[in-house]
Amino acid sequence: MTTEHPGRVESTPMVVDHPDLRGKVAVITGAGRGMGARFAAALARRGVHVVGADLDLAQMEETAATLTAENADAEGAGQVVATAVDVRDRDAQQRVAELAVERFGRVDLWINNAGIFPEAPAADIPVSQIQATLAINVEGVLYGAQAAASVMAPGAAIVNMASVAAVRVRRGRAAYCSSKAAVAHLTECLAVEYGDLGIRVNAIAPGFVDTEMTRWVQDDPPALAKALDSIPLHRLGSPEEIVGPMLFLLSDSARYVTGHILAVDGGSRHV
Ligand SMILES: NC(=O)c1ccc[n+]([C@@H]2O[C@H](COP(=O)([O-])OP(=O)(O)OC[C@H]3O[C@@H](n4cnc5c(N)ncnc54)[C@H](O)[C@@H]3O)[C@@H](O)[C@H]2O)c1
Repeated sequence: MTTEHPGRVESTPMVVDHPDLRGKVAVITGAGRGMGARFAAALARRGVHVVGADLDLAQMEETAATLTAENADAEGAGQVVATAVDVRDRDAQQRVAELAVERFGRVDLWINNAGIFPEAPAADIPVSQIQATLAINVEGVLYGAQAAASVMAPGAAIVNMASVAAVRVRRGRAAYCSSKAAVAHLTECLAVEYGDLGIRVNAIAPGFVDTEMTRWVQDDPPALAKALDSIPLHRLGSPEEIVGPMLFLLSDSARYVTGHILAVDGGSRHV
């Protein structure tokens, strides 16, 4: 099969028409850069107030300032507030939830997006790596959901970031793959229990998306060729292409969808 645009990333804005999210309040972890920052931009543009929480406070503040400046003339845009969090710290996540309530009166939407992507051959994974990966990628999602649910009302929605790595093995990424498999199943567990509170819990499982996390693929031609070979659509995804599925899961379009892991991966989970 010939590939028309090998390695090209399609970042043109997508036309997205979902029920109104205006006036809602969202918390996004890891919103300082990458997909989290893109989610913050998309939500603020649609009139959602956003609390962006990141380990890197300086980066988070810069992103919040940029989005605020971009939206300065946009009628009805939501505010973007920056705060620090280490998602491993349950109390810190609770404080983020309380900050959102203090600033905006409620929390309707929560995206557990922060994550790390470490590498090591399985035989040599250091204790510190497996502990940090499970603490950030898995415990961080659990504590985020707990903090979210403690302040949410029925009708609210949580979306976790899983990965195609939850169902496909990637050499040298055993810690990451197993953490994302845990995120996927944790999402199903949380959906069942938080369904009692009328809170939906879903996950997105992206494939290769063009962010800092995957920049090494772009910079390594053999790795890029291998990656493209495993993607039926023959290109990496752009953060923009994760936004539409995210808005769908957050919105009333998905009001009867919970415990679902939505693959947004160009088909790579099948290869
Ligand atoms: N980029 C991809 O191809 C891809 C694919 C599948 C899944 N994902 C997942 O999507 C999510 C976002 O990925 P991205 O590519 O935008 O990543 P990224 O590395 O660009 O951004 C991650 C953000 O999380 C923050 N963070 C890291 N550890 C944290 C902690 N302990 N507490 C709070 N914040 C912390 C970082 O400071 C950073 O701002 C991650 O969960 C990632 O595993 C990414």
